[in-house]
This record gives sequence, C-alpha cells and structure tokens, in this order.
Amino acid sequence: MKLPEELQFIANARMVQKTTDVRIDGRVCVITGATSGVGYQATRRLAHGGARVVTVCRNRERATRIQKELKREYDAQVDVLQADFSRLLDVRKAAETILADYARIDVLINNAGVHHTQRTLTEDGIETVFCVNHLASFLLTRLLLPKIIESAPARIIQVNSQGHRFGGLDLDDLNWDRRRYKGLQAYGASKVAQLLTVWELADQLEGTGVTINAMHPGEVRTNIGMNNGLLYRLYKRYLLWWILKDPVISGNAIYYLAAAPEMAGVSGRFFNLTIDEKPAPHALDRSIGKRIWKISEELTGLSGTD
Ligand SMILES: NC(=O)c1ccc[n+]([C@@H]2O[C@H](COP(=O)([O-])OP(=O)(O)OC[C@H]3O[C@@H](n4cnc5c(N)ncnc54)[C@H](OP(=O)(O)O)[C@@H]3O)[C@@H](O)[C@H]2O)c1
Repeated sequence: MKLPEELQFIANARMVQKTTDVRIDGRVCVITGATSGVGYQATRRLAHGGARVVTVCRNRERATRIQKELKREYDAQVDVLQADFSRLLDVRKAAETILADYARIDVLINNAGVHHTQRTLTEDGIETVFCVNHLASFLLTRLLLPKIIESAPARIIQVNSQGHRFGGLDLDDLNWDRRRYKGLQAYGASKVAQLLTVWELADQLEGTGVTINAMHPGEVRTNIGMNNGLLYRLYKRYLLWWILKDPVISGNAIYYLAAAPEMAGVSGRFFNLTIDEKPAPHALDRSIGKRIWKISEELTGLSGTD
C-alpha cells in the first residue's frame, strides 16, 4: 500500500539504507557534537574511513577520551575544539581557530542539538534550542564558508530531524515570549529554520562545487532530551528506549552522505538517513526562508557581511 506523500517518511524509515566503503583518507571533516549519540557514531565512522576529524564539542574531557579511543582503534587523527553552542561568541572563536589552523575543510557536519521541555534563554537572550540547533550551525557554516569553497569539492551536512514536521516556527515570536512553550514545537521550529536556510544556501552555492544537504539520523538511542526533568527522563529511558534504534545507523548514513561518490553534486535535498525525501510543506516555503535567513544573519551578527 502506498502511503500519502505526507506519511511517506514512515515507509522511508523502513527502507534498506545505502552505504559506502569508499575511504576518505586525509580529508578534513569538521563535526559538532561528537561527544554523544549520532555525532559520536559519525565521528567513529569518519575516523574508520581515514578522515582527519576536527570535533567541536562542549565537553572537552569526553571529547579527549574519544580522541584517544579513535587513535587506539583506528590510528585516527582526531582534533578537539571546545565550544558551547548556546554562546555565539564560542562559535565565532571555534571558527577562527579552524580557519587559522586548517588549510582546508572538505566536509562540515553540523550535528550538535538539544531538546528542552522548558523554555530557557541563552546569555544573549535567545531561546536556547533555537540558538543551539539553528543559529549556531548557521553561524559556523557561514564563517567557515570561504574556506569550504576554497576546498571544493566539499560537502556540508546539516543533521536535521523529522521533528521539523511539528512546525512551530513563528517569525514574530522566535523566543516564545507570546506563546506557551511547547518543547516539541520549539525543537520543530529550530529544525524548520535550519531546513529553510539549507535551500537558500544550496542556491547560493550553485557552481561552487560545494553541496549542502540536510538529513534525519533515524529515531535512535541517544542522550537527547536527557537534560530534562525526571518524568521526561523516565519516559525516554523506560518507554521510548525500546523502540529506538542503534545510532550506528546514523553514523553510517552521515558517512554515506559525506563520502559516497554518487553524492557528489547532490545539493539542496533532505535525506531520511540516506533516502531522499520530501520535507513538510511548511519547511519548503521559500519566502519564509528568505526572511529567516535575514533574521538569522541579524541575530548572529552577520548582517552586512558577504
Ligand atoms: N536521537 C534521535 O532520535 C534524533 C532524531 C532526529 C534528529 N536528531 C538530531 O541528531 C543530532 C544529535 O543528537 P543526538 O540524538 O545524538 O543527541 P545527544 O546524544 O544528546 O548528542 C547531542 C550532541 O550535541 C552536543 N550539544 C548539546 N548542546 C550543546 C551545546 N550547547 N554546545 C555544544 N554542543 C552541544 C552534545 O554535547 P554534550 O556531550 O556536551 O552534551 C552532544 O555531543 C541533533 O541535532 C538532533 O536534533 C536526533
């Protein structure tokens, strides 16, 4: 039975995923949120595939442990940079270090993400989930872009989510000042904003040899949401846990998108793991996309830059 288009993502999640064994020896891959879950598995797979991995992580101690583990297991070169993505200044500092220390960037994977059930604001007064999931990845990508373009062919991967289907993006109330905060919708809003900017950037990058795609990493067993209250944590650990999959599938999917020769030149798409999929209609509205692009530039202090 063929599902209606808006439910096709359910069928896609059951499809056989694409994989690649191609090696990417020496390619410089920058990945955020490598200390846990999806990002950790992607980092392992990249290291196994020969990449030089630059991890940008909040928890330096955990990142250093992973660095040692991957040196031991794969003799991989993994570097660690510290940044808290709820602080846009940290993102800027991390970008400066990367631009200064690396001659090229072949792959950028924006993976770090959070889900909060309660509204919190960052030091800059921005709703935290919107800042970490969208603004930080927007800013990092934009700051690294000149070097990524110089390094072309290169790829940018945004670890997004089916959560974009929850909607929630209100351009007049990004901080949830006027609405009652709903965690899933706030998470959805951050992912919609990210998707809308992917289509904009894909157009801008046409002809540069740099591709940008977004992906959903599967419904997988990770730490996301475990920063929330006891009730949520019990729900996740004892109910949700059993239906979630091993995040190894997420790492493999990200590796496929980053390394597979058949992905060269593919840009401006949304992948359910590795299956090309149509996002929700509200995440395809290009007029809202242009507005969120401008707002994101303003909030990250990029206005007026190229
Ligand atoms: N798990 C799923 O089923 C699922 C489904 C759809 C999409 N996703 C997406 O997958 C991505 C990874 O999430 P996950 O499921 O792997 O969750 P996770 O296990 O909680 O990992 C999240 C990563 O992001 C980092 N991070 C969180 N807040 C940060 C901050 N303020 N600054 C810097 N880094 C920060 C975490 O660092 P720490 O180790 O310091 O906490 C961790 O490395 C997210 O973008 C999420 O939206 C996940």
